[in-house]
Amino acid sequence: VFSVSDYLRDHIRTVPDWPAPGVQFRDITPLLQNPRVFRVLIDAFVHRYMAPELRPDVVAGLDARGFILGSVVAYELNVGFVPIRKKGKLPFDTVAETYELEYGSATVELHTDAVQAGQRVLLIDDLIATGGTMMAGKKLLEKLGATVTEGAAIVDLPELGGSARLREGGLKLFTLVEFD
Ligand code: PRP
Ligand code: HPA
Repeated sequence: VFSVSDYLRDHIRTVPDWPAPGVQFRDITPLLQNPRVFRVLIDAFVHRYMAPELRPDVVAGLDARGFILGSVVAYELNVGFVPIRKKGKLPFDTVAETYELEYGSATVELHTDAVQAGQRVLLIDDLIATGGTMMAGKKLLEKLGATVTEGAAIVDLPELGGSARLREGGLKLFTLVEFD
């Protein structure tokens, strides 16, 4: 039987020792490059979020690979797309959230008028590792009074504990492929 998860997994490239020794980098670019695979990928998200009870008002994408997925999913759902960007890129008034990385910290920002209080937002990225990026995105959207109805990603790396932490923090998650 055809498994979307197995099909997508077969088109994710693992690059050893990048960006640092010992890291097995899960590279999603081959999924985008092949038009049949790209369609299966996007349709998996669109099919889920078309359902009336899960359909968001807005899709928010996380810089930078979340933009590639999130904008296409938003377009197909006929809802708007808003970017959550790394610090210093957005020109208008912003809210900001800083989170800890393995070494140092990172800050992400969102325009203050990107979402309205009470809106239901789907938050999309390519991959969940420690979960820090997605948690920061959730906090930004909540600062503006929006509700993050679900977090979605292609890949979860459960051994890093990010998806468990996000779920403990009250975020429902939908991911398509897991790697140990
Ligand atoms: C990667 C990935 C996620 C995040 C996951 O992005 O695309 O956004 O890290 O890690 P976390 O769960 O530990 O937060 P990266 O910061 O490499 O940025 P890029 O998309 O601009 O390459
Ligand atoms: N792939 C892509 N992005 C990432 C990874 C990975 O393996 N780990 C942390 N961010």
